[in-house]
Amino acid sequence: MAPRTPTTKPPTLEQQTSARWQALLAAAVDGVVSIDERGLIQTFNPAAERMFGYQAEEVIGQNVSILMPSPYREEHDKYIARYLATGEKHIIGIGREIVAQRRDGTVFPVELSVAEARVDGERLFVGVIRDITERKQAEAELRRSHEELQRLVAELRDKNEEIRAITQQLWHAAKLASLGEMAASIAHELNNPLATNLLRLENILERLPEDDPHRRSLEIVQQETRRMSKLVSELLQFARRGRERLGVVEVNRELEHIVELVQHLLRKRGIEVVWDLEPSLPPIHADIQKLQQVFLNLLTNAADAMPKGGRLTLRTRRGHLPGHVPAVSIEICDTGIGIAAEHLGRVFDPFFTTKAEGQGTGLGLPICRRIVEEHCGTITLESEVGRGTRVEVTLPLRQPEDKPCCGKAERQGGAAHV
Ligand SMILES: Nc1ncnc2c1ncn2[C@@H]1O[C@H](COP(=O)(O)OP(=O)(O)OP(=O)(O)O)[C@@H](O)[C@H]1O
Ligand SMILES: [Mg+2]
Repeated sequence: MAPRTPTTKPPTLEQQTSARWQALLAAAVDGVVSIDERGLIQTFNPAAERMFGYQAEEVIGQNVSILMPSPYREEHDKYIARYLATGEKHIIGIGREIVAQRRDGTVFPVELSVAEARVDGERLFVGVIRDITERKQAEAELRRSHEELQRLVAELRDKNEEIRAITQQLWHAAKLASLGEMAASIAHELNNPLATNLLRLENILERLPEDDPHRRSLEIVQQETRRMSKLVSELLQFARRGRERLGVVEVNRELEHIVELVQHLLRKRGIEVVWDLEPSLPPIHADIQKLQQVFLNLLTNAADAMPKGGRLTLRTRRGHLPGHVPAVSIEICDTGIGIAAEHLGRVFDPFFTTKAEGQGTGLGLPICRRIVEEHCGTITLESEVGRGTRVEVTLPLRQPEDKPCCGKAERQGGAAHV
């Protein structure tokens, strides 16, 4: 009998389709998992094996919920039941980002798209799963960079604002400086003619009989000329720097001396003077005349602030300047009208005054500050409307040889420290 040659049957259409389907599944980069209506896994391709760490045989027949973390794991059957009952699609044909769980329990983000099919009358759901861990990380990184960028932009904006404010301050200071120089040169020009006028007036008045009808007018001219002369010398004083005559100054004694000078004014206004002087205050090295001017300006301001009386407290203490420099501090406190908040930042500006015309030139405090700075000291001012003002002058015991602080002593006055 002739041997039977084995006949190879051509593959059926079904076999062909299945082979193509298998090849497709094996080649797919994304995980492909199909489930039946009960949620049981039917197919689990190699990409899904790599992604989840399960072998296909381990998971086929198992509920797909094993690929999900809680709480989706517990809810998944309900999702399918709801879809089967209502036809309401949440993922099918839409696709969305969800989280999945590997065999080792780690959770990772995936993009899932689900398609529905019918095979032999049975409903089948095919899910295509893409691991988007890297994309998510990149997104988070991008978000972080964006936030960082926003923070930097905000910081830059703040710095810009700061620079703008500083520029304005510098501009203001430059304006004041040129104003001061201009005023000083005008004052200089006015000094001589004013002095001559005063001399002439004194001469005329001396020779004029007491009952002369012009006497009163000339006296008024003399008084006003004296006022002009005072303003001019204050301006010059303000513009002039250095040239100090240093000596040993007993601060307590100087204060007492100046109070004596303005005693009549204090008495007239009903101002009570309270002394709180440190008895063992060490003497300081300073220009006595300039210091007298500082105290006089401050006492006059305090007296002017208490037109209806009040209390003037004068306090001295040992103190320190930055860098542990031994110093004395002098406080002049009044219970006067105080300074409005909007004026506090301007009281050290030349020509700033709230006093009636002819009453103040607005040079007192700028001169005080200039003198204190020339002595490498500090001056600060605090004030509250209706309660009073406290000015503190701190001066070093000794003047440093090279005066590094001159002209740039801490600007504690004005708005910064008031
Ligand atoms: N102790 C104080 N109480 C209330 N306000 C004060 C006091 N000291 C200063 N001021 C305010 O500061 C302004 C400036 O003072 P500053 O001494 O520079 O000038 P002035 O007193 O007005 O004039 P000048 O001192 O040149 O005669 C005053 O006009 C006043 O408004
Ligand atoms: Mg004054």
